Amino acid sequence: MSAGVNVRARAKLNLSLDVLAKRPDGFHDMLMVMQSAELCDDVNVELTGDGRVFVATDLPYIPSDERNVAFKAAHAFFAAADMSESGASIRITKRIPVCAGLGGGSSDAAAVLCALNELAGNPLTAGALRRIAAHVGSDVPFCVEGGTALAEGRGERLRDLRPMPALDTVICMPHFSCSTPELFCRVDSRVSRCRPDTAGMLEAIERADTGGAARRMYNVFEDVLDKRSQKTVREIKSRLIDAGALGAVMSGSGSAVFGLFPDAGSAGNAAEAMKSVCREVFLTRLSEKNPCAGL
Ligand code: C5P
Repeated sequence: MSAGVNVRARAKLNLSLDVLAKRPDGFHDMLMVMQSAELCDDVNVELTGDGRVFVATDLPYIPSDERNVAFKAAHAFFAAADMSESGASIRITKRIPVCAGLGGGSSDAAAVLCALNELAGNPLTAGALRRIAAHVGSDVPFCVEGGTALAEGRGERLRDLRPMPALDTVICMPHFSCSTPELFCRVDSRVSRCRPDTAGMLEAIERADTGGAARRMYNVFEDVLDKRSQKTVREIKSRLIDAGALGAVMSGSGSAVFGLFPDAGSAGNAAEAMKSVCREVFLTRLSEKNPCAGL
């Protein structure tokens, strides 16, 4: 057993995703209903005294330098906490698929921030931690918090929503991947487009109408996928619905597609059936807020 702190870095799902406008800083203003899931990476963090940040993952193709947001998060933490002499050893066991729209990297970075703050005796307030998280990546503040939340701005402005129940969830990885900046470009060049009914979803969540929330799941990035990928996503979604899902949608900039189920039996059957058409399938549940939230 390794010393230090072990944190579960949970996957992020977008129950809805709308792109409002391109901003002068190149980012986009978003309106998203975010939800965390039990599917997680395991992140182990130890403090070292050598002023260096060491990152290792169990996947050889994941960079361990400044291209890795967990690495960036550790440096940002030490700078903010005035601990530049400290160092950290970070070991990540990946289970969340990479570049899938499930916030795996962002969640690892959030886990590093929470672990370092705990190991250092909580020198940073929750507000300070949120500011660093937003600097590290747009989805990192939500990944610190977890649970069910409305995200605005770049994704860093969060409002807690009534927690969704721990619905059984099937996440499917299709055989294609998406480029996030490319999808944003395509959304920008569209004159008119369909929008999610975010207000309707928020009302449904507020009155604990899980079916109503699931039926309103919608992601504008699905509309700008190339025709072939769009067809694949449509097929996966309709298979999930046929298998009993209350709703199904692509998460973030894809290509993961997930369905929310009313019971473990139908979710298990759906997961089994989807294995023949998808690269990978995960059976998980929606999760509550993270223990790190509200430090
Ligand atoms: O913040 P993050 O590093 O996750 O963003 C990755 C890329 O996604 C950005 O470089 C930008 O192209 C795009 N993005 C955006 N607007 C956002 C979030 C991300 O344009 N709100």
